[in-house]
Amino acid sequence: MNSRRVGSGARATARAHANIALAKYWGKADVERNLPAVPSVSVTLDALATVTELHFDETLQADALLLDGIEVQGRGLQRVVRLLDEVRAIARLNCFARVTSRNTFPTGSGLASSASGFAALAMASMAAAGVALDRDVASDLARRASASAARSIFGGFARLDAGAPGQSSLPARPIAPQDHWDIRIVVAVTSRGPKRVGSTEGMRHTAATSPYYDRWIEMSQAVAERVQTAILSRDLVALGEAAEHSALSMHACAMAAQPPLLYLEPATLACVEAVRVLRERGVHAWVTIDAGPHVKVITSRDDASRVAGHLAAVPGVLQAIESRVGPEASVEVTEA
Ligand code: PMV
Repeated sequence: MNSRRVGSGARATARAHANIALAKYWGKADVERNLPAVPSVSVTLDALATVTELHFDETLQADALLLDGIEVQGRGLQRVVRLLDEVRAIARLNCFARVTSRNTFPTGSGLASSASGFAALAMASMAAAGVALDRDVASDLARRASASAARSIFGGFARLDAGAPGQSSLPARPIAPQDHWDIRIVVAVTSRGPKRVGSTEGMRHTAATSPYYDRWIEMSQAVAERVQTAILSRDLVALGEAAEHSALSMHACAMAAQPPLLYLEPATLACVEAVRVLRERGVHAWVTIDAGPHVKVITSRDDASRVAGHLAAVPGVLQAIESRVGPEASVEVTEA
């Protein structure tokens, strides 16, 4: 196989937005290939993004990653190198890359930084290596690093199906564009630290020890259909109820693991209660929670500022970020 080198000129900058699963992914069908055991459906968020600048450079002795100004080594760097190796194989390229990435939100805190991060990395590395932009290829590459990242390649609302063990490719797909529906997501940030148990370890532990894991897998298909139908018919009550059910079922399943896996903190539950009270007063608001303590509230355009104001006043909430539905990931080649 011929390999080629690109000089230090090929530089690309990609921007990808975080996404929040409305039907949750939790559990792997194939750990080695990182294939999900359940379908997931997400909304891309305008307010939370990762911007990644990348260039392949013949003078480098190894791949280098700067994340929010800090040099990353160890496991964090290895995951990046693995994705870069796949792009190098596709492009038949044999030099290392310098990657500079920044998030507009706290990294590793459960605010889905891996989703926007690996989506931006896939787009930037493909473009810098001269690989034609094919969103299915980018989504599949991002999915191998972090399955939720596959969905961040697309704007609006996206779906990632469950995989079958051994399946070689599984990209996410868009189900409705950004302008399909102007709903809002309010993110209540309840801590600045990294999450206690990463999603891969959390899923492995849940699958191995939770008595509810099989039931979770069984129910997930129907919940994903409910969420998708609610999105397509712009039915906010149906979406909110299905999304809340998906998230709390995922947490119930994780909590039943042995020893228990508990991502919820006092501030998390205070937000869940605040949202319940708002709903009693006629506000359209439902919660979803990922593998961390933060609460994301699904709400309408009209209710969003009231929800954000209410959550900001909940004890333990550091910040309430209001987001619109976000765009697809984008990339620009800045020097060729
Ligand atoms: O793709 P990962 O490994 O970051 O896992 C994401 C898991 C959840 O955020 C809890 C759910 C989801 O579908 O995004």
